[in-house]
Amino acid sequence: MMNAPDPLLALAQEAPITRATFDQVMVPCFAPAQVLPVRGEGSRVWDQDGREYIDFTAGVAVAALGHCHPALQRALAEQAGRLWHISNWFTNEPALRLARGLVRRTFADKVFLCNSGAEANEAALKLARKYAADHFGPHKDGILSTVRSFHGRTLFTVTAGGTERYRQGFGPLPAGVQHLPYNDIGALENAIGPNTCALILEPVQGEGGVNPGRAEYLQAARALCDRHQALLVLDEIQTGMGRTGTLFNHEQKGLRPDIMTSAKGLGGGFPIGAMLTTTPIARSFSPGTHGTTYGGNPLAAAVAARVLEIIDTPEMLAGVVQRAQQLKRGLEAIGTRLGLFREVRGEGLLIGCELVPEFAGRAAEFMAAGSEAGVFFLMAGADVLRFLPALNIPQADLEEGLARVEQALSRVR
Ligand SMILES: Cc1ncc(COP(=O)(O)O)c(C=O)c1O
Repeated sequence: MMNAPDPLLALAQEAPITRATFDQVMVPCFAPAQVLPVRGEGSRVWDQDGREYIDFTAGVAVAALGHCHPALQRALAEQAGRLWHISNWFTNEPALRLARGLVRRTFADKVFLCNSGAEANEAALKLARKYAADHFGPHKDGILSTVRSFHGRTLFTVTAGGTERYRQGFGPLPAGVQHLPYNDIGALENAIGPNTCALILEPVQGEGGVNPGRAEYLQAARALCDRHQALLVLDEIQTGMGRTGTLFNHEQKGLRPDIMTSAKGLGGGFPIGAMLTTTPIARSFSPGTHGTTYGGNPLAAAVAARVLEIIDTPEMLAGVVQRAQQLKRGLEAIGTRLGLFREVRGEGLLIGCELVPEFAGRAAEFMAAGSEAGVFFLMAGADVLRFLPALNIPQADLEEGLARVEQALSRVR
């Protein structure tokens, strides 16, 4: 039976595209801002009405080199004129170039390419289970994770993630996952055992409130995983690709993972994810055990290979450290002047400002005021404002952005 034409939908299809179109035609799992961005260049963005904004979000740590970086445009356009998609029945040069670049620059020997962070973590968790089953037997299937962690939105990754709300209504969930308090070595010692196959951690929790993982905690996690023959999976999807001043955050904390996931900044705005591991662990995946249609597609890989070359230079990484100090100091000064922040914390250009109790729960209101004042920033939970600008944000944009942040915050204050 044919459905009667929906008059609202017909109208939406004819009328100009506006923010209202979202409510008419999109599944409501997001509540986007009223501003509708149409163009970006570096750390500036323009909306439909030509209003300009400074972007302290980099598309949630994705546009790591700013919007429409000329070298990335060239990499994409060049590849677009050669080969878009060839399937995994063949391999392709950009994917191999990217994987070789990642292997050269990290602990890893092998790379699995996919399309998003959730898929990279899904692959990591499946690989950890398969490795344990291959080497120790199917009883070793326990996965440890942490409260407030975020690992993606597939069923396995929301189960691994530490936010109860994201799992509600989706059961039955994959079994065998336990959540522990973050940065708590004692809790980990008590929970880990012979049946643990993996521990998954963000080295700095991003979505969960910008909570830096202490080096001692991560090193203890490494030692405990070794003692119990469990794999340590580091989710560097938000912390990686230069965001905290080294290519990956764990490099600063004196440990190596068994499996690491990357996405977000890896593609500089083009969707791509990667799971990295060592040769012995990678052997638990053989042809047919895991796969993806688009993973390693030439367009995404060509862009990511270029992103990696540009980010992994001493100048770029030193620039992150310098900008991070400036942004953190600027935010601390604003917080002091307005009496708004209980703490300014984070690592590199992943900074969280926790609101004082008087303003707890109102991060969304501050974010909206930011858009009004011409600056985008984010929240990480209802109590924390989150700042993650492009790694190469120009000095002038950093200063102007901070001035607009102060305007926005004082308005709400
Ligand atoms: C640490 C972390 N892991 C995983 C994800 C999920 O990535 P994606 O949204 O690309 O699936 C995110 C996204 O915010 C993240 O921050």
